[in-house]
Amino acid sequence: MSKKPLWIRHASQLVTLKGSSARPLIGKQMEQLHIIENGSVWLEDGLIQFVGEDEEVAEAYKDRLEEAEMIDATGKLVIPGLVDPHTHLVFAGSREKEFEMRLQGATYMEIMNSGGGIHATTSMTREASYETLFKESKQRLDQFLLHGVTTVEAKSGYGLSLEHEIKQLEVAGKLNDHHPIDVVRTFMGAHAVPFEYKENPDRFVDYVIEDMIPEVASRKLAEFNDVFCERGVFTPEQSKSILEAGLKHGLLPKIHADEIEPYEGAELAASIGAISAEHLLKASNKGIKALADKGVIAVLLPGTAFFLMAESANGRDMIDAGVPVALSTDCNPGSSPTVSMPLVMNLGCLKMGMTPAEVLTAATINAAHALNRGKEIGSIEKGKKADITIFDVPNYMVLQYKYGVNHVHSVIKNGELIVN
Ligand code: NIG
Ligand code: FE
Repeated sequence: MSKKPLWIRHASQLVTLKGSSARPLIGKQMEQLHIIENGSVWLEDGLIQFVGEDEEVAEAYKDRLEEAEMIDATGKLVIPGLVDPHTHLVFAGSREKEFEMRLQGATYMEIMNSGGGIHATTSMTREASYETLFKESKQRLDQFLLHGVTTVEAKSGYGLSLEHEIKQLEVAGKLNDHHPIDVVRTFMGAHAVPFEYKENPDRFVDYVIEDMIPEVASRKLAEFNDVFCERGVFTPEQSKSILEAGLKHGLLPKIHADEIEPYEGAELAASIGAISAEHLLKASNKGIKALADKGVIAVLLPGTAFFLMAESANGRDMIDAGVPVALSTDCNPGSSPTVSMPLVMNLGCLKMGMTPAEVLTAATINAAHALNRGKEIGSIEKGKKADITIFDVPNYMVLQYKYGVNHVHSVIKNGELIVN
């Protein structure tokens, strides 16, 4: 942790998103960024200590200005560090051949059902040593940082046996300990039915419930429990029992819902009180209403829809219906091999009808809430973690408008300048 205080000053726009720590923003609130022009932030002891206009901060610290390391943000945009609430960070290998197959007309599910897809990555991940898995995943994490991300979620789900699920979660834990980015762990043993259980998927569900969840929870290897609820993968009934078993052991439910076909995943997320429902390309109007009623966060993944050449989830309708919306890369080797939250935000505007202000909210404070961390990160407010990203653009609209360019100027994590 930096001994010297860090003073970011002269920000052209300082986006604070203040006042949103208690609950995610919904509807019109998602446009209220609370911007300070000529803004300053004072960071010390890993935390945000003071936020205001240049003069206010200069006055508050007038006896200590000399002590601080200074970042001149003239002409720049200063925002809370980006939060990516849905990734499959820890895996081995890559699947570019499947990409080519899809370009020639094969579908994602066809490839998976013929032994590729998640199964291919599962084989490569099982075979990889702990060290290889760490090294490959760390490279991705380094790239996340270069794209302005300071916290990521990481799901298991390429092990599909107790031993290998634990290996993935332990690697994620070690990355959290050894990398500036915070890594939040989700158990996703129910990502696919592995070949060994192909003839008897219910036995695999029992294995997840009776063996994996208790062990993962008692060893505190994850905070959340996720399931791929999709026709041909896990049914809503199986998903419900897996998520309920997790809850019994203190793992908060998340769900991959209504991605490829409508399957009442959103309805299940609402009825079980999930913290978030993710994907939702094919969510029904009834499902969307249920999410709004229960305040379940919709984690939308427009990069995945783009990469699968599918129509994106209807972010616009969800926001208008009062659903709290967050955005994420879904970084994984099959359906979204990207680490770029700024690109995902851009797709949020162009493919889901969200405004530049809404995507900023969705990629910071609402994403923090999807990880149960709304009180610690996601906005620039006194007492929160000093996680901040600075972009070389004069305002938040330019960040969306000049797309396909990495505008990150610097990243500050726990009060320390990491990327510069
Ligand atoms: O979120 N949909 C399921 N899981 C991942 C894809 C995993 C893979 O293809 O390796 C997703 O898109
Ligand atoms: Fe996913």
